[in-house]
Amino acid sequence: MSDARVTPLKWATPREWVDAVGTDTLALLSDHAHCELKAAASAQALIAKNTQRPELIMELLKIAHEELEHFGQVVAIIEARGGRLAPVSGNRYAGELLQRGVSGRSPHLLDRLLVAALIEARSLERFRLLADHLEDQELRALYAELLSSEASHRAFFLDAARKNFSEAEVTSELERFAAVEAEVIRALPFDHLVHSGPPERA
Ligand SMILES: [Fe+2]
Ligand SMILES: [Fe+2]
Repeated sequence: MSDARVTPLKWATPREWVDAVGTDTLALLSDHAHCELKAAASAQALIAKNTQRPELIMELLKIAHEELEHFGQVVAIIEARGGRLAPVSGNRYAGELLQRGVSGRSPHLLDRLLVAALIEARSLERFRLLADHLEDQELRALYAELLSSEASHRAFFLDAARKNFSEAEVTSELERFAAVEAEVIRALPFDHLVHSGPPERA
């Protein structure tokens, strides 16, 4: 799974991130739930913008369904723990990634597919760390369970990019977006969020 073609990430989240984020699991779960909801909304937005590409529609619809299921799963855990889903807040990571990646022009399909692939790749990396290192056994099981579907989402977005654009264009744009992604996430402040920056000492 460390194959660069499969995992385009250019910066590895340090193990200390799990210890820090594990100190407020309700906040993490709430942010995670919103990430799932936004992933479902992004998949629906891609469907609406690409009605002329029927081969993408059914796959994106499946992803939207799965993300909504994940949202429900996470909300159920929050409620079982006596918590409440926090109000929605902007996702600085995803916003900066798209904004800095497209720099001034309006994003086209390749940008959106690669940004989606990188967000899925980063989420997968973090879910794997959480599944391996969180102290909370219930949450370890949750993150372990989500790994395979997030891996298939990442693969879908990369495959869709390769099917709709030339290999040379995908390779160079993926390289560029992956460098931006690494810069963005490393520079973000630490918080109890799925896509936060590293804790101070890491
Ligand atoms: Fe998901
Ligand atoms: Fe996903």
